[in-house]
Amino acid sequence: MIKAPVEVCPVCDGTGWKTVPTRRDTGRNATERRVMRCDCQLRARAQSLLAAARIPRRYEHCELANYDTDFPGAHPSLAEAHFIASNFARKCDPHGDKGLLIIGKIGTGKTHLAVGIIKELILSRGIACLFYDYRELLKEIQNSYNSTVQTTELDVLRPVFETDVLVLDELGAVKPTEWVWDTVSLILNTRYNENRTTIITTNFDDQPAAGASGSLSPARAAVRGETLGDRIGERMRSRLHEMCRIITLDGADFRQKFRSASFR
Ligand SMILES: Nc1ncnc2c1ncn2[C@@H]1O[C@H](COP(=O)(O)OP(=O)(O)OP(=O)(O)O)[C@@H](O)[C@H]1O
Ligand SMILES: [Mg+2]
Ligand SMILES: [Zn+2]
Repeated sequence: MIKAPVEVCPVCDGTGWKTVPTRRDTGRNATERRVMRCDCQLRARAQSLLAAARIPRRYEHCELANYDTDFPGAHPSLAEAHFIASNFARKCDPHGDKGLLIIGKIGTGKTHLAVGIIKELILSRGIACLFYDYRELLKEIQNSYNSTVQTTELDVLRPVFETDVLVLDELGAVKPTEWVWDTVSLILNTRYNENRTTIITTNFDDQPAAGASGSLSPARAAVRGETLGDRIGERMRSRLHEMCRIITLDGADFRQKFRSASFR
């Protein structure tokens, strides 16, 4: 097998460190120099973080820079959400700051925004992030109970607990059972207790569970759609309010917009 020659970084000759003149005026003729990590190392770290983030191919194109807020008929909530997301990506402290709960109907761009944020956190700030579809995560945990597979529940959950910023996409999309509620509580409570930042997307309205105090009358509850409270339980919904700032996206399904545009 012929191996491609490994390219050696011309800045640091492959050492990973570069020397740069300091700005400080020493008052002497000799310029003081300082050793810094070379950009090639920072780029390599960003690339390995990006590979480890598990962003699905379907969403690889999603960036904050290509999130359109200005097309004809764009709902104003898109521009507001984009503004909050961009500030968050630039400034958030992943060990203390609240995360984001992005709520909206189908195709309003929730996943696009969430992926755009973590890509920027990885590429511009070298922060470790992990993307998980809620259904996929629960399925992987369930598979780990199968005695023929080598992975344990903790193997699946450890990175979910430990990553600096977790995206949990489509929270509530699995039919609730006691096991689902216990598992989602374990994940959210662990991250909450460790002060770690979580970005969540959901299609369900941020409303109480049926029967919870402050919920709708039984007659109205019967005709309403299911709420986030119904799907993850009131206790977890209220925990989410402590963990996340809420962003609501309104407007049409972006996929439909494209489809109808292509028929014009
Ligand atoms: N404002 C936007 N600018 C550019 N592309 C967008 C925008 N909103 C959505 N899209 C694109 O439309 C598609 C659907 O968006 P996305 O998957 O983020 O929606 P969603 O709200 O997560 O939908 P679902 O509820 O089905 O999960 C994606 O390919 C996404 O890149
Ligand atoms: Mg989505
Ligand atoms: Zn280098």
